[in-house]
Amino acid sequence: MPSTGTDLQDQILTLKKQKHAIILAHNYQRDEVQDIADFVGDSLELSRIAATQECDMIVFCGVNFMAESASILSPDKTVLLPEVEANCPMADMIQVDSPRPVRKRFPGFDAPRFLFPPEFTLRDIKKQYPGTPVVTYVNTTADIKAESDICCTSANVVKVIESLPSDQVICIPDKNLSAWAAKNTKKKVIAWDGFCHVHERVIPEDVTKARKKHPEALVMAHPECRIEVLEISDHVTSTSGMLRFAKSSDAAAFVVGTEIGLLYRLRKENPGKMFYPLRKDMICPNMKKTTLHSVFRAFQENTHIVKVPDHIRIPAKIALDRMLAIP
Ligand code: 13P
Ligand code: SF4
Repeated sequence: MPSTGTDLQDQILTLKKQKHAIILAHNYQRDEVQDIADFVGDSLELSRIAATQECDMIVFCGVNFMAESASILSPDKTVLLPEVEANCPMADMIQVDSPRPVRKRFPGFDAPRFLFPPEFTLRDIKKQYPGTPVVTYVNTTADIKAESDICCTSANVVKVIESLPSDQVICIPDKNLSAWAAKNTKKKVIAWDGFCHVHERVIPEDVTKARKKHPEALVMAHPECRIEVLEISDHVTSTSGMLRFAKSSDAAAFVVGTEIGLLYRLRKENPGKMFYPLRKDMICPNMKKTTLHSVFRAFQENTHIVKVPDHIRIPAKIALDRMLAIP
């Protein structure tokens, strides 16, 4: 095993070439992992790339559901997730037909009450609202996507809901993304009660404090934050939406209401501007599991292969393809 730094980066790039692979990294990945990636982006951008790039292998530096989506969209490619334990807790908050596991408690916030009792499943909610289309955030497992009509990301949720003929939709699993979508559409949005523990911990007082400390800055917030936080922010958008906004805005300073991994790109791509985290503890431990060493090991050992079986992959692909067809 090489030591660290450039040596390791060079060896990864050599292996990548040998294996005719591409490296995709989410905007929340560690700085050094972003540096070796061919593409760094938000969930929507990375899905589009996974579906269209010419290569034999995709090494996905992100969390499990992202590698699953890549495998669903590109079944002929080998998809590797360098850290097998890189999961998204929100994706585990909804089950197809067996009760979900007991909700974990995360430090830094009060657990919200359940909108549906914990033993409730996706099939139960579908039975309760027959004929209502299910809009599923990509932050879900493949079997949930397979039971859904269409997927969405934080970048396109409103467009996806508006694209459907029905006056009401079931939107799973993030209650905050659903609340944001409901505020921006005339349609009725039936929400699940999932949440991202990294964004859920932000409270309106954090915004007030940040504005006091940085009165010149605009506040950007991710739609996984609570609705009370979104309502008092200046701009609500996905991670790559924040990159575009920061670049095009005349403002010279921004408070960033999402996982702190995004600060790396924001600062690199906007050297003359200032970026401050909304909260310093907005860190997703699962996104940080992937290191240069794990990427190197993934190439050497061909681990961990993510492959979705066809009976789930085919219906899940329909839901993802419908989303990708929306411009
Ligand atoms: P986006 O990059 O699509 O905004 O997603 C945020 C996220 O939480 C991914 O896990
Ligand atoms: Fe899941 Fe939140 Fe981490 Fe994204 S940031 S992977 S939604 S826990």
